[in-house]
Amino acid sequence: MTDQQRRRPAKPHRRPQKDPVRFLAFEALRAVDERDAYANLVLPPLLKKARAKGDFDGRDAALATELVYGTLRRQGTYDAIVAACVDRPLSEVDPPVLDVLNMGVHQLLGTRIPTHAAVSASVELARVVLGEGRAKFVNAVLRKVTAHDLDTWVAQVAPSYEKDAEDHLSIVHSHPRWIVSALWDALGGGRAGIEDLLEADNERPEVTLVARPGRSTTGELLAALGEDNGLPGRWSPYAVRMAEGGEPGALTAVQDGSAGVQDEGSQLVAVALANAPVEGRDTRWLDGCAGPGGKAALLAGLAAGRGAALLAAEKQPHRARLVERSLAGNPGPYQVITADGTRPPWRPGSFDRVLMDVPCSGLGALRRRPEARWRRRAKDLESFAPLQRGLLREALKAVRIGGVVGYATCSPHLAETRVVVDDVLKGRGGQQSFEAKWVDARPLMPGVPALGEGPDVQLWPHLHGTDAMYLALLRRTA
Ligand SMILES: C[S@@+](CC[C@H](N)C(=O)[O-])C[C@H]1O[C@@H](n2cnc3c(N)ncnc32)[C@H](O)[C@@H]1O
Repeated sequence: MTDQQRRRPAKPHRRPQKDPVRFLAFEALRAVDERDAYANLVLPPLLKKARAKGDFDGRDAALATELVYGTLRRQGTYDAIVAACVDRPLSEVDPPVLDVLNMGVHQLLGTRIPTHAAVSASVELARVVLGEGRAKFVNAVLRKVTAHDLDTWVAQVAPSYEKDAEDHLSIVHSHPRWIVSALWDALGGGRAGIEDLLEADNERPEVTLVARPGRSTTGELLAALGEDNGLPGRWSPYAVRMAEGGEPGALTAVQDGSAGVQDEGSQLVAVALANAPVEGRDTRWLDGCAGPGGKAALLAGLAAGRGAALLAAEKQPHRARLVERSLAGNPGPYQVITADGTRPPWRPGSFDRVLMDVPCSGLGALRRRPEARWRRRAKDLESFAPLQRGLLREALKAVRIGGVVGYATCSPHLAETRVVVDDVLKGRGGQQSFEAKWVDARPLMPGVPALGEGPDVQLWPHLHGTDAMYLALLRRTA
């Protein structure tokens, strides 16, 4: 070493640069992991704050949203890739480090961000939030990831379909294996269908509005949105689909409650129950699990058009208040009560139509909650099982002979759908059995294709563009 080299001062310490978009996305991912927060609840206030501070414009907000949602949705695939690039089990990598790595992998393999920018932004983020030593680790891992594109990586880290179909699908389409298995059981069929379904879960759903009958019309909503920003619904006569990036909250009709945000699957369920033939009187309708009130508002509007009244019951007081809010302004009579549907205050046989949209695992709405699939456990289903059966039993008691019950879930899991209905009708588990006849729900969803063999209906994101809502219609016969 020369004297000159020996005298050269040490490299000046450079303060890491905080990139507000990646920093915010990291904060949201940590909240989801540490506090079990929901991304769709955590993100909006963070974005609002960043915008108010002048840190963000619309494009920054879109990128932050994509980084959070994309990283969470594709976590299963990215974990498998990162695992192939580190020399220890993933469980020994600290969660914040894994968040920075997975977000880096998403930028490299799941977006069009150039490679050098994705790596340097991730390393810079690591310097800010993890420190210099771990930033080096992040740099080393992400450089390995840059060796291949997504397809090549997946071919390397997932077993072949022929060797282990469920594991293959689980890694390629980023779903826990037990969920792949459950969805496949419910869907039936071969490889193409389940692959389409799992991919549909990885896409952001379009925003659908409902024009609440008697309060607004689809024509008014379409006119308010303008030609380029709205389309009529695919299946529901009350639906309007918003173009990507549309802000439903900016519409006056949504602000005043004459319209709402509601998936077309939920609309179809309410409309099918309202249109199911009942014998005789048709004036008293019940929604036994009403919170937050989406289906209740549609049912109440339909009831009003026929001179019927809706009783909306909800166990949680704060959710009952949401039902109140969505029903306020309904053109016909209604009442909202806080009540436990398994120990109801109403007299048996007093309703003509009853909806029980029971609490469930939500496996039919995975596209809406990117973190939900990683949080749910197979054993959660056991905790819903007695409640779902209890609520359906009470629904069958609440309806009069000749009236109709709609049992609905936002899950296609057979243990929450057909099995519950069969068990209750047959009185399994030492309970009372019920004399009831299945009503074919398919003709009550006119124009909707691929509804299966009936008499119940299972909707699917990849076939209908809706959440995977289930509906069984039953008429009390004795
Ligand atoms: C799937 S959500 C209903 C969604 C609602 N139908 C809608 O479209 O907005 C199920 C609701 O049932 C409520 N719930 C849970 N247990 C209940 C019970 N024993 N009695 C009445 N409601 C109950 C939950 O608080 C939740 O609001």
